[in-house]
Amino acid sequence: MSSLRLLLATAAAAALASCQSVAPNLASMTPQPSPVAAAPIAPVLATADAVDIHSYARPLEARVTHVSLDLAVDFETRRLSGTAALDIVRRPDAREIVLDDRGLEIQSIVDGSGAPLQYSVGTSDPQLGSPLAIALRPDTRRIVIRYASASDAGALQWLTPQQTAGKRLPYLFSQGQAIENRSWIPTQDSPGVRQSWEARITVPTGLVAVMSAPSAGPGRSNERDPGHVTYSFRMPHSVAPYMIAIAVGDVRFQSLGPRSGVWTEPSTIAAAARELEDTEKMIAAAEALYGPYLWGRYDLLVLPPSFPFGGMENPTLTFLTPTFIAGDKSLVSLVAHELAHSWSGNLATNATWADFWLNEGMTTYATYRIVESLYGPKLAAQQYANGFDAMMTAIDDAGGMKAPDSRLHIDLKGRHPDDGLTDVAYEKGAAFLRTIEHVAGRERFDAWLKGWFGWHRFEPVTSAIFLADIRQNLVRGDAALEQKLMLDAWVYEPGLPSNLVRPDPAAFANVDAAVSRFASNGTIPSQLWASWNTDERLRFVNRLPRKITKQRLGALDRALSLSETGNNEVLFAWLSLAVANRYGAAVPALERFLTTQGRRKFVAPLIKALAKDSAWGRPIASRVYRVARPLYHPITARGLDELKL
Ligand code: BES
Ligand code: ZN
Repeated sequence: MSSLRLLLATAAAAALASCQSVAPNLASMTPQPSPVAAAPIAPVLATADAVDIHSYARPLEARVTHVSLDLAVDFETRRLSGTAALDIVRRPDAREIVLDDRGLEIQSIVDGSGAPLQYSVGTSDPQLGSPLAIALRPDTRRIVIRYASASDAGALQWLTPQQTAGKRLPYLFSQGQAIENRSWIPTQDSPGVRQSWEARITVPTGLVAVMSAPSAGPGRSNERDPGHVTYSFRMPHSVAPYMIAIAVGDVRFQSLGPRSGVWTEPSTIAAAARELEDTEKMIAAAEALYGPYLWGRYDLLVLPPSFPFGGMENPTLTFLTPTFIAGDKSLVSLVAHELAHSWSGNLATNATWADFWLNEGMTTYATYRIVESLYGPKLAAQQYANGFDAMMTAIDDAGGMKAPDSRLHIDLKGRHPDDGLTDVAYEKGAAFLRTIEHVAGRERFDAWLKGWFGWHRFEPVTSAIFLADIRQNLVRGDAALEQKLMLDAWVYEPGLPSNLVRPDPAAFANVDAAVSRFASNGTIPSQLWASWNTDERLRFVNRLPRKITKQRLGALDRALSLSETGNNEVLFAWLSLAVANRYGAAVPALERFLTTQGRRKFVAPLIKALAKDSAWGRPIASRVYRVARPLYHPITARGLDELKL
């Protein structure tokens, strides 16, 4: 253990060791649990750059090590209610422990022996919620909070039966990252404060509960309450609290391979399983790059279309948007991405949101490597090139090459973590690692990469730890290499260092030529288009001039059936271009797109672009938003409600 770390661990290690076994699975149609090893309590970093400004917790004084939830799911009142029992480790002189709370209705707080503990909820900050300070007695080691989540909890979306594919039963799902879980779990909601956890979830009979942890078998009904069943889960490893996730609905399981499978509503399961057929191969490719997969199973949950992200790497159970189903596996790099987070993000986790690039940049780099190993270097080079374009746009949006937000390690003071959710973190992060790989050589870089996850598994990490590790284990005193890498410039300076590895210009040679022809004389590459893969099509649409006449847009649309495409990434690229040019013939497709899925990356830019165009777009935005708003998860709606459409 390095001296950087403060080990508040040992005291509670013994208490935790007793709850590690996983019960045998009884249902043939649910995934087989695999044994998982006992976890030591993860350290909390004690350096200044590891202080999380998005949490009220003061973990160096008192911290949560284990969360035990016992919650009932009530679709009528849209609340989760029950208890959260927290095991804590504290300095002997700590007088209180501070948790994060957003709108929780707290009924009582007692210690392990049932004696009441004093507590107070501080003033609520619009971004962070409130501190929940609980007074500790000298011997307090366990805290039991009886509470309910608010009906408008930011992490949770409650869908009516009408809003599901099956239309028969309601649905609930959560999204924790970055700071949403404090709206349904009273704990220290900071990625640097890792916690093991377990949960008992009681749901109406007929519904299935799944969570981001090994399950202890099928739901058990209670003799006195035949209307409900209880599902149990246990995550024996310490994870960042944003990784605790739940979904409840009419979901089924289909196996994909020995350690993977897919959960989704019955009507989507065949298409989902087909699209995901390469999952086992992806796990193997990821292990070859990163080292062994340590979480046991890797299952996926394909959610209803209102899921606000493309994917979310909830441990053992990635959450996915159904919009990735294109019918031809052309969008499955999303799965490679979420899978790669099982190492970059879930094993080694950004200690604070200022180092979000450590999660996303490394994962984006790994995605290209996994794509290379499954689908070949050409496709990987194309995806790197499209990512590179996205990075350039993100740097522009951040204010250009001198802008503070074009740095990897960013300053989020007074801001929401989501402000850092840009392609600077994803694609500049990936370009940085690609550059190290290029400069040091793949063999050397790959050896370092495996070592990184070996050393830092189940631990929080910072940019400083990353740089120290690279220097110690990759550079190893090689002064020439150190100079060529430009490590500090990459992490702490704005813009792009001069050693940047640019994409291969050959990756899209014929697409770029077609773009030039269209730009100069309107030639439509109909035949080429038919032969192009999704990344080539995306390159074409995204590289077209931003100002195009309606007549030319109409010709393009008719020749390439753009408004009708079933590929949601291509559709989004096309609709963005259409809105920028007030191309009315695409409006029906636009309305359909905005009212049938709620992925923020698709919805927010389109609605914002419409809203800005007061004469043409705003009335469309208002009309669409009124219909679409009930479909959207709070995370998607939050940034749009303020447009007052
Ligand atoms: N972990 C992210 C999603 C996320 C980040 C949610 C920050 C909340 C806050 C996930 O792994 C992700 O990056 N999803 C992307 C897809 C990916 C292929 C770029 C998305 O949802 O678009
Ligand atoms: Zn990600």
